[in-house]
Amino acid sequence: MVFMAEAYHVDAYKVEGKVDYEKFAKQYGIKLIDEALEKRITKHTKTLHFLLRRKIFYAHRELDWILNEYEKGNPFYIYTGRAPSGPMSIGHLLPFELVRWLQEKFDVDVYIQIPDEEKYLAKKSLNMTLEQIHDISYDNVLDIIALGFKPEKTKIFFDTQYAGKMYKEAVKVARHITFSTVKDAFGFTNESNIGQIFYTSMQAVPAFLKSVEEGRNVPCLIPLAIDQDVHFRVARDVIGKLGYYKPAIMHTKFMPGLNGESKMSSSEENTAIYLKDTPEQVKKKINRALTGQQATAELQKELGGDVDKCMICQYYKYFFEPDDKKLAEIFKAEKNGTLLAGEHKARLADTINAFLKKHNQNKERMRDRVDEFILRD
Ligand code: TRP
Repeated sequence: MVFMAEAYHVDAYKVEGKVDYEKFAKQYGIKLIDEALEKRITKHTKTLHFLLRRKIFYAHRELDWILNEYEKGNPFYIYTGRAPSGPMSIGHLLPFELVRWLQEKFDVDVYIQIPDEEKYLAKKSLNMTLEQIHDISYDNVLDIIALGFKPEKTKIFFDTQYAGKMYKEAVKVARHITFSTVKDAFGFTNESNIGQIFYTSMQAVPAFLKSVEEGRNVPCLIPLAIDQDVHFRVARDVIGKLGYYKPAIMHTKFMPGLNGESKMSSSEENTAIYLKDTPEQVKKKINRALTGQQATAELQKELGGDVDKCMICQYYKYFFEPDDKKLAEIFKAEKNGTLLAGEHKARLADTINAFLKKHNQNKERMRDRVDEFILRD
């Protein structure tokens, strides 16, 4: 067997191996978010979200243009989405948390697409009917709005319920995309079903839908995880050809799996924390997580640990410790060997469980308010 430490794979339907994020950006002409851009954002937001400070949201396309327009008095709207395939994990919240923050700071409209046909077409192995996927979508939407989106500025739509509005625009996109382009971009073969081939044109629509609605060009900013960039690599030029602004994009890394993989895998349930997990499940999963600590407590005290290999540390970094000073203390204790795996894990499990308790309370509070967010034909 050939051992390829650097090998990884990222496409819209599969992520494997250890992702080299800088290399990925370079390969596709995506720019890194540099200090100058961070400063420009901070000018408007006062503080910088930890996802940006820690370069978890690390790259972009034309974010500088979005800020230019904003500063000229031409505000943008935000578009993102989630294709339901099952319950949501903590990792799925990353883009939505940044979107919520951007909405709060820039006071802008947010469009959230729920393509309830996407995984039905692309993941037959799910063995779910279209109706079943549609039903679980509501639970996903609750998890999203539980983060605290503004109902009057947030529009959520399911593809199967908003097709009347979107189909006409999707057709205009589809006319400009050839089979050979999507074959290349998404790895389709002659065996791929024709719904999959068309789907990317549905994902393109909300990137210019507000312009259609308002009859004038409105800048659009799309925060997404890097595996979704491919849709817009294909669509941005087409959207430009249709006479609209090409959307700008902000890219996030994936929340790593508890086993150290670059992305939590929904097929390997134990490597991800789900929002519906019970306190016992959380404890169990965290107990099994990779820590990279030395073989014995003595050795750990003597040699210390590696924060990059310690998934407990990484979970604090990616989501559970927004305070940089506290994060630095945790990292220090891991490095100098004073924080042993048992206690380290127990504390994180408690933190996660406190978060989940509050999240699920918020979710319950929103249960009868879902309709305030949803657009239907
Ligand atoms: N394809 C995305 C997924 O698999 C869902 C999605 C639709 C999306 N529109 C989007 C993601 C826009 C990011 C931005 O979950």
